[in-house]
Amino acid sequence: MKSLLKAESLVKKYGKVTAVNDISFEIYPGEIFGFLGPNGAGKTTTIKMMCGLLKPDSGSVTIYSTNGERSIGLCPQHIVIWENLTCLEQMIYMGQMYNMPLNHAKSKGNELLSALGLLGIKDRIAKKLSGGMQRRLNIALALIHSPEILFLDEPQAGLDPQSRVLVRDYIRSIKNKTTVVLTTHDMEEAEKLSDRICIIDNGKILVSGIADEIKRSGGYENLIEVDVSGELQEKFISFLDPDLLKNMSILTERISFITKDPISSLSGILEIIKKHDIKVNDLRLRKNSLEDVFINLTGKSLRE
Ligand SMILES: Nc1ncnc2c1ncn2[C@@H]1O[C@H](COP(=O)(O)OP(=O)(O)OP(=O)(O)O)[C@@H](O)[C@H]1O
Ligand SMILES: [Mg+2]
Repeated sequence: MKSLLKAESLVKKYGKVTAVNDISFEIYPGEIFGFLGPNGAGKTTTIKMMCGLLKPDSGSVTIYSTNGERSIGLCPQHIVIWENLTCLEQMIYMGQMYNMPLNHAKSKGNELLSALGLLGIKDRIAKKLSGGMQRRLNIALALIHSPEILFLDEPQAGLDPQSRVLVRDYIRSIKNKTTVVLTTHDMEEAEKLSDRICIIDNGKILVSGIADEIKRSGGYENLIEVDVSGELQEKFISFLDPDLLKNMSILTERISFITKDPISSLSGILEIIKKHDIKVNDLRLRKNSLEDVFINLTGKSLRE
């Protein structure tokens, strides 16, 4: 498929900090593409370069648009609205900046406010909206001119579960018509929404692809977690065979095993528990999540 956006060898430095370090990727028409990464990974910097708000130090972004100036919509990470305009007034104002006729801007504004659950408060001035409402208004504003490609920098930040579902459903509903590029830290959200995901850290792409592929790329798909506390933990570990020990990690009372062969690993573990009468607080077998891969790739240390 022909790409809609192509980023080639993008580099951006702020003084000594290399925020984006030679990344290349393509975005295809109609897809939802999720940038996932810890704080300071370089997501916003990459979004800004894609939108043309920031010039890369080297490399390039090409958008193969058919729509000229109307091709891009951006909802920035930090809310940007006109505090003293009502919801509908700012939709119209923004529309007119894109040379939309007044009637068209008004009807499109009403349609978007309705889709984002803001129609009932369309005449309220923006500074009197809650944080979640302002975020939804910001998303609506980015869409007034029906952009071909929509950039959403953390669209779910500060939203309660109800708003999150509404925004997620809305983003899904515009998919195909609009290509969506979003950033988030929320793996579950990324997985639910995105057709393809790209995990970045320290300005580098660590892995990209569809979520299931990424999970498999960790080299394992199954995790066994056994919760054993205190002295019993040491006792339990002392009976484990080398194969299990090799793939074990411990976080407080939780002992996790990565395994390619869950049935035989699990039966080995159960045998030890039974034979040595180890009291287990909890035991489960689960598929590894995107979060497991993310932590595996990016480490556990805190960021900025
Ligand atoms: N205007 C700036 N001046 C100097 N350094 C900056 C600037 N903007 C970003 N940085 C640095 O560049 C790196 C990448 O920042 P960026 O905002 O792109 O990360 P991010 O992935 O969006 O993080 P977050 O999840 O916290 O929003 C960080 O180390 C950050 O401190
Ligand atoms: Mg950011």
